[in-house]
Amino acid sequence: MLDPAPMEDVLAYIDGHRARFVEELREWVRIPAISSDPSHRADVLKNAQHLMAQLEAIGMEDVQLWPTGPGGTGHPAVFAELRSSPDRPTLLVYGHHDVQPVDPLEAWVSPPFDPVIREGRMWGRGVVDDKGQVHIHVKAIESFLRTRGKLPVNLKLIVEGEEEIGSANLDALLAEKSKELAADFVCVSDTAMFGRGIPSLCVGLRGMAYLEVHVTGPSIDLHSGSFGGGIANPVNVLARLIARLHDDDGRVQVPGFYDKVVALTKAEREEIHGLPFDEPAWLASTGAPAAAGEKGYTTLERVWTRPALDCNGIVGGFHGDGSKTIIPSKASAKISCRLVPDQEPEEIAQQLGAFFQRHAPPGVKVKVDYLHGGRPYLAPTDHPVFEVAKRAFAKAFGRPTVFIREGGSIPFVRTIADRTGKPCLLMGFGQPDENSHAPNEWLDLENYHLGIKSAAYLYDELSRI
Ligand code: BES
Ligand code: ZN
Repeated sequence: MLDPAPMEDVLAYIDGHRARFVEELREWVRIPAISSDPSHRADVLKNAQHLMAQLEAIGMEDVQLWPTGPGGTGHPAVFAELRSSPDRPTLLVYGHHDVQPVDPLEAWVSPPFDPVIREGRMWGRGVVDDKGQVHIHVKAIESFLRTRGKLPVNLKLIVEGEEEIGSANLDALLAEKSKELAADFVCVSDTAMFGRGIPSLCVGLRGMAYLEVHVTGPSIDLHSGSFGGGIANPVNVLARLIARLHDDDGRVQVPGFYDKVVALTKAEREEIHGLPFDEPAWLASTGAPAAAGEKGYTTLERVWTRPALDCNGIVGGFHGDGSKTIIPSKASAKISCRLVPDQEPEEIAQQLGAFFQRHAPPGVKVKVDYLHGGRPYLAPTDHPVFEVAKRAFAKAFGRPTVFIREGGSIPFVRTIADRTGKPCLLMGFGQPDENSHAPNEWLDLENYHLGIKSAAYLYDELSRI
C-alpha cells in the first residue's frame, strides 16, 4: 500500500459490507429494464426509481428523475448531487441503467433477471453493462458518507435510461441541463479492463451512425414463376447493395467514408502493440474460425482505431418451413457504422444514403432512415487527471494501469467532453469476455469490490488535484 493511513476507515467499510453490497446489486438487476422493448417501458421507470431510492438511502441530496424526449416519451435519466465544499473540485459520474434484450433466452444457464453467484461472478442481464458499474460508484459514495459524513469532492451523478438504444434524446437533455451538469472532471464506468486484474483506462471509443435501409419493389408478393425474371426482386437487390459496401480487402466502398479518418501515429501503434493481446484467446472467445477485416491493420488496430460497417440484420421475403415461390415485395436491413475521429455521424449517414440511391436499380425504391448517432472520442491523455486516475487504480489493484481503447460506443462521452471542455475518464471494471449484450452476461465480483475501492481512491485523489 502506498498511502494507507488516510483511507483506512473507508476501505474497512468497503471490506466490511462486501456481501450486502452484492445483495443490493442483485436486487437491482432483477428489474428487467430493457429500453428497446416498449413492453418493458414501466420496468425502465421502476428501475430508475429503484436507483433513486438507493441514492436517497445513502444520503445523496437532490435526487431527481429527468424525463427525456418530446413530451417525456423517452426513458428517464436519474440525477443526484452531493456538495461537499465550494473549494473542492466537482466530479460528474455517468452511467446507464437500461439494459439490452435477453434473447435467445434458452442460451442462458441461469435466468437473466434472477441473478446467481457462481465462480466468483454474478450472472444476469445488466450486471456489468452497466448496473454493476453504476453501483460501484453508489457504494463508494456510501462508504464515504457512512464513515466520514461527507465526500472529499463535490459529486454529481447522471444515470441515463437510453444508452443501449443510441441515446437519441441525450443531446437535448445535456443542453437543457448544462448548468446542473457543470463539472471539473467526468468519470464514466461502462467499459472493460484489458484482462484479469489489469486496471485499464479507456482512452478511445468509436462513434456510431445507425441506419435502416428499405427496398420496395412490387406492391405485393408476386408468383416467382409468373414474374421471376421480369420484375426486380427486393431481396436480391438488397443483398447486392450490401455486398457492394466492402471490397475484397475489407475496405468500405462508400465515397467519402474514410475522408476524415485520422491516421494512427507511430507512437499510437507502438502503444497498442505493447499490450499483451492474446489474439488466439480473443478469437476463441468468439467461436469464429478466423479473424477478418480491413487489410493492412492488426486486429486490435481494426477494432479500436479503424471504422467498421456492419449489417446487423436483414429481413424480407419468405422465412417459413419448406418453400414458397415468390418475389417478395420488400426487404430491409439495419446497418451500424462504428466511427473514429474525425468522422461525423450525420455526414456518414448522408454518404451511405447517397450510395444506396446511386446503386439502386430502376425496378425498386430505396429509402434510408438514419436512426441514431454518436461521435467518437479520443482522450487527451497528457492531461494531469490521467495520472490521478492511475494513482487511484494502483492503490486499489496494486498493479500499473494500461491505456486501452474500445471498439464500442458511449455517445455521452464525446458530447460531455465537448460541452464541458473537460476530459472524460473511462474507468471500466468489465472483462473482455463478459458476454455483455449476449446470453450469460457476468460481472467479476473481485473487480466489483476493487472497483468500489478504485472509485473511492479516485474521489480522494481528485480532492487534492
Ligand atoms: N458498455 C457499452 C459500451 C462498450 C462496448 C464499451 C464495448 C466497451 C466495449 C455500452 O453499453 C454500449 O453497448 N453502447 C452501445 C451504444 C450504441 C447503441 C450507440 C454500443 O456500443 O453498441
Ligand atoms: Zn451496452
